[in-house]
Amino acid sequence: MQVDVELLKEFERGLDPARSEQSKIPARVLGYGEISTIFEIQSDSVKDLACKRLPIFQTQDEVLRYVQIYHEYNDLLEKKIGINVPDYGFAWFASDSGRITAYDVQQKLPSESIGNRAIKQLNIEDIRTLFLLVLHELCKVWIYNAANPQEALGIDGQISNWAISGYDAEHPHIETGMKLLYFDTSTPLMKKGGVEQLDPELFMRSAPSFLVWMIRWLFLEGVMTRYYDARLVTIDLIANFYKEQQPQVVPHLVKAANDFFAGEGKPLMIKPLTEKEIQSYYKEDAQIWILFLALRRFDRWLHRYILHKPYIYILPGKIKR
Ligand SMILES: Nc1ncnc2c1ncn2[C@@H]1O[C@H](COP(=O)(O)OP(=O)(O)O)[C@@H](O)[C@H]1O
Ligand SMILES: [Mg+2]
Repeated sequence: MQVDVELLKEFERGLDPARSEQSKIPARVLGYGEISTIFEIQSDSVKDLACKRLPIFQTQDEVLRYVQIYHEYNDLLEKKIGINVPDYGFAWFASDSGRITAYDVQQKLPSESIGNRAIKQLNIEDIRTLFLLVLHELCKVWIYNAANPQEALGIDGQISNWAISGYDAEHPHIETGMKLLYFDTSTPLMKKGGVEQLDPELFMRSAPSFLVWMIRWLFLEGVMTRYYDARLVTIDLIANFYKEQQPQVVPHLVKAANDFFAGEGKPLMIKPLTEKEIQSYYKEDAQIWILFLALRRFDRWLHRYILHKPYIYILPGKIKR
């Protein structure tokens, strides 16, 4: 996909990370990630795109290496594993001050069709169908990983990472034949010869500087490795429904997952899940992210009032958990 780099550069020039909605070129935030902010920018050349801002690169080598992995990851998912990804592109540039900013750019998908929005409209039967569709897609990755452990891919199965193709918000319903798109490809975790290709340091850049050591320890052990583990990815996906304020569906999804792992997912030999472990996982995970965000806010405060240095990251407002 061709990307209008000049426009993005212009956008970046007029962007105040503290007030991202009031940038010179108007934009709306579609979502906040741990490391990226996803913008819909109101300008003709990019208006149908979701622009994921990644302010994490310090050198040209880093960004070039990232873009290579990013392309390979998308390509593997699409061509070898058979998961649909939206049309995508990538752009990067150095700003006037020399700082590198990169943008993952994707075809913008209708916001009602994104999993976490759709589940607000769907009944429990449809949520279950959607969940099984997601497991079916994830299973393609896990089977691939089992056959190619040295070249495994990590994937984040959360419901907010999938869009339902052809979803009609006027008549919310999920059919078993519906197609899903996986769009959270900005963290392209993949191994080659058993070695992780994505430099985890990149994803610690937005962490408070005074805590990098702790984040490194939490992140490497807890967060990076979890995306390679089918059972943990499933637990994480189900625990997501607590965050999305739908605790009542959790027991149904636990059952659906266990049925799935006794049927289609049998070759993966996953030990059955229990509701209790989803609960305790969620508590711990929510605490980690709440703490992390609080510390990032503190770091922003330090930059502004003590260090008098610009703070380049964009932080989300209050998140309901
Ligand atoms: N291509 C897209 N079209 C529409 N919305 C998107 C798109 N990509 C991301 N978003 C929105 O931004 C949120 C976070 O994006 P995601 O790619 O999952 O990043 P992260 O790695 O930060 O989770 C999504 O849940 C979705 O609401
Ligand atoms: Mg995501």
